[in-house]
Amino acid sequence: MSVNIAVVGATGAVGEEFLRILESRKFPINELRLLASRRSAGKKIQFCGKEHIVQELTKNSFKDIKIALFSAGASISREYVPYAIESGAVCVDNSSAFRMDDDVPLVVPEVNTHDIPKHHGVIANPNCSTIQLVVALKPIHDAAKIKRVVVSTYQAVSGAGLKAIDELEKEAKSILEGKEGFQRKLFPHQIAFNVLPQIPQSNAFLPNGYTSEEMKMVNETKKIMGDNSIRVTATTVRVPVVRSHSESVNIETEKKITAAEVKRLLSTAPGIQIIDDPAKQLYPLATDAAGKDEVFVGRIREDVSLDNGIDMWIVSDNIRKGAALNAIQIAEKLL
Ligand code: A2P
Repeated sequence: MSVNIAVVGATGAVGEEFLRILESRKFPINELRLLASRRSAGKKIQFCGKEHIVQELTKNSFKDIKIALFSAGASISREYVPYAIESGAVCVDNSSAFRMDDDVPLVVPEVNTHDIPKHHGVIANPNCSTIQLVVALKPIHDAAKIKRVVVSTYQAVSGAGLKAIDELEKEAKSILEGKEGFQRKLFPHQIAFNVLPQIPQSNAFLPNGYTSEEMKMVNETKKIMGDNSIRVTATTVRVPVVRSHSESVNIETEKKITAAEVKRLLSTAPGIQIIDDPAKQLYPLATDAAGKDEVFVGRIREDVSLDNGIDMWIVSDNIRKGAALNAIQIAEKLL
């Protein structure tokens, strides 16, 4: 059965990836409606060898749409998801607008597909850093019950959109050419050849000293895993990488689990590929993960400072599994 699909934010970094993945996975589409801001109305985009014209998003954009994929930011989702639902569409929303609402499932198909049927017209796609984390945590939690997680992220600029990639490239070029006075538009400090312990780039800090990105990791992990008892702390950091987020993760479990057991568990878990051969200097890399579907895990070892502790390194393409692919996997389950 083919369905009518709308992509909101079709001209953005995640929107472009939606189209690549819908095409490569042969998603059964009858009509594809590409929506963006007025600035992009009339723009032509190729999909499955055919030209599609981008339309301006309005409240009337969703007539006869069955599934609407949203990735145009939280304020657009808050405003337009209700119109899409009113028209009879089910929305898969990549923004943070509804993620923590009690009646909105927050889904990573490898972890909690069972939450999808509880939706009332919108299913939330989690934060990119959280998605790759929970894919790796779930099998360990099931086997040994995770008590606490300490995560530090090394996040690619593409998480902040196409404009952020442009700023990194232009700033790096201007520094390499010895030019002064580069005008930053997005990041609060130099991102080229630098590391910024602040995500997102504006209005990041909360009264508790964490950033909103960090608290997303804390709260979303508990909701997706369906276990409020897991204690999570996060430090989220922007690095001058175009694509793929990397994470240093420390886990404390209730039951003892060895590094060998973790490797064995994760090697058969859905969506995961282990790359862990220290003798050959093999471990997951952002550059290798870019454009791939899997969550890559390596550097798996027992924590020398804890009785029941595991350290690992998790890398995944933030635009694919961290956003577009996860949303399309949810849409596939909806079909
Ligand atoms: P546009 O290209 O017309 O601005 P990114 O995350 O890469 O910055 O992409 C953001 C996406 O959200 C783009 O497709 C962008 O469209 C879309 N968008 C931004 N503002 C609006 C708006 N007011 N109405 C509809 N789409 C919007």
